[in-house]
Amino acid sequence: MKTKVIKVEEDQIDEDVIEEAARIIQEGGLVSFPTETVYGLGANGLDEEAVSKIFKAKGRPQDNPLILHISDLDELDQLVSEIPDQARICMDKFWPGPLTLIFKRSSLVPDAITAGLETVAIRMPSDKIARALIRKSQRPIAAPSANTSGKPSPTAAEHVYRDLNTRLEMIIDGGRTGIGLESTVLDLTEDVPTILRPGGITYEDLREVLGEVRIDKSIVSLDKNIIPKSPGQKYRHYAPNSDMYIYEGELEAVVEAISRRAQEEVAAGRKVGIMATDETRASYEGARVYSMGSRKAEAEIAHNLFSILREMDREEVDIILAESVDFSSMGLAIMNRMTKAAGGRIIKA
Ligand code: TXA
Ligand code: MG
Repeated sequence: MKTKVIKVEEDQIDEDVIEEAARIIQEGGLVSFPTETVYGLGANGLDEEAVSKIFKAKGRPQDNPLILHISDLDELDQLVSEIPDQARICMDKFWPGPLTLIFKRSSLVPDAITAGLETVAIRMPSDKIARALIRKSQRPIAAPSANTSGKPSPTAAEHVYRDLNTRLEMIIDGGRTGIGLESTVLDLTEDVPTILRPGGITYEDLREVLGEVRIDKSIVSLDKNIIPKSPGQKYRHYAPNSDMYIYEGELEAVVEAISRRAQEEVAAGRKVGIMATDETRASYEGARVYSMGSRKAEAEIAHNLFSILREMDREEVDIILAESVDFSSMGLAIMNRMTKAAGGRIIKA
């Protein structure tokens, strides 16, 4: 099928485009749209057949459940069987925004959404284009990140186009996404709220309003025996085509170790890509050096991470050497994505 790409400005939304996109959703088709985190690949979340097209377009494993996106709070009741107090606190404070909450599902939610689980993931995005589309569609929109399964999530419309062209009806191009990493997934169906995927809303943010918050072990551990509670976290993910290695330790030692390795690789005839930071980029030579941003501005690093991984693919580098960042605040989400992109290859410098 021919994929239509249409530009829309977030502060001057063209209603005709939203109407056309909403019609596609209502008729069971696929539309990619921007959110504040990454681009989503949307379908009518209550239509089993439309939802199955998402899995097919992405090549997504069937056992990985999808997030339902809503635009207004009154759409929630029909989708869940219970709203715990802690959920209300989170919704009050962080919706609309980059926080996905796991609820006990209602019977209205198709099995294809939950992959057979008794729970359902729900998020209310803050992006104006996303909300206009959901509202106009008058349906909850099921939307995973709009990438081929396993690839870095798309933070620009051209990333979606490159991965999924001809597999969907329309891409709404709203420019680069702000946050650049996916939403935080928080499970509220157990005694203690548990972060299943770190993201735009940080552990520190959540602890401030909820008190005790757990972090699912799989997020920071490389132990293959720990099975993540969020099915999506168990797959190799966000992965560039080339092998990636993360170097951690004292910054000076990291720069030295990466420089040495880069020299060896270049001498062996390989094309090397280095993922550095503003503070260190000038220290490297002889390789393609990309700065993820300043170490003092984790939001900047989050914003740039996936597009740099895609840039490495475009440049066809043979090997990627990346600096690690601190785990605090957004750093947890950044390191979670980087560790998965590297398939767990972390080197102590
Ligand atoms: O920021 C985002 O969340 C983006 C935008 C488009 O909204 N969406 C996104 O969707 O990242 P996706 O499908 O790429 O990731 C959804 C994650 C997966 O790790 C999945 O396993 C988890 O949420 N998930 C979905 N339903 C779940 C459930 N019932 N229990 C546990 N984890 C669930
Ligand atoms: Mg994804």
